Amino acid sequence: MSREIVSGNEIKMRGLFISVEGIDGAGKSTHVDFIATYLRDRGFQVILTREPGGTDLGEKVRDILLHGAQDMHRITELCLLFASRQELISKVIEPNLAQGICVIADRFIDASVAYQGYGRNIGQDKMAKIIDLLEPKLTTDLTFLFDAPLSLAISRVLKNRNKDRIESESVEFFTTVQNAYRMIAKQEPDRIKIIETNHDIEFSRRILVRHLDCLIRQKQAEG
Ligand code: TMP
Repeated sequence: MSREIVSGNEIKMRGLFISVEGIDGAGKSTHVDFIATYLRDRGFQVILTREPGGTDLGEKVRDILLHGAQDMHRITELCLLFASRQELISKVIEPNLAQGICVIADRFIDASVAYQGYGRNIGQDKMAKIIDLLEPKLTTDLTFLFDAPLSLAISRVLKNRNKDRIESESVEFFTTVQNAYRMIAKQEPDRIKIIETNHDIEFSRRILVRHLDCLIRQKQAEG
């Protein structure tokens, strides 16, 4: 963990910042609590966040995003997501990391790159501009991309009778988002680790643990 001088000679370690990503139905939620428990068992303080949401304002925005008008303009959707994210970063994520508390984020910027940048075809130039507005600029230490065959992910979503606005999107949309996630993971293999969720849960957990242990060792060596 990187160290910060907070006052005089006092030195504080920053918390680990880990996010979980994947298309709807990829199976990420099953693993969030496991990651938190694993870190807590090793002595880390941990909080969980979700996006959109995670603050009072963010949860109201989540409701609009997931249950608002189906024909919402893609830039309106993008701005709402980033409004929710800015609140979460400044009120929750950054203050906790600065205090040495680990943050496990159920989705972060990679979700917008995949869903809005590629899925909504907003394009990477506009995405770079809106990402640049965020204060402070944060990058995850580790991101788990949960990945399942599209047919399996879609069948999981279809089991949910009350599909939200985004879950109601087309197969083509989710194909684009999934390909985008896989491409982003290839571009940043050190930060983004793909976890296939069509194996049994213990298999996925063993891989999670390997990456978590590696991150802990690396940060302790840096610290
Ligand atoms: P969740 O179901 O994982 O909580 O995510 C809510 C939905 O919001 C999911 O369909 C993905 C979508 N989403 C985006 O489209 N862009 C984003 O930046 C985020 C954070 C979520």
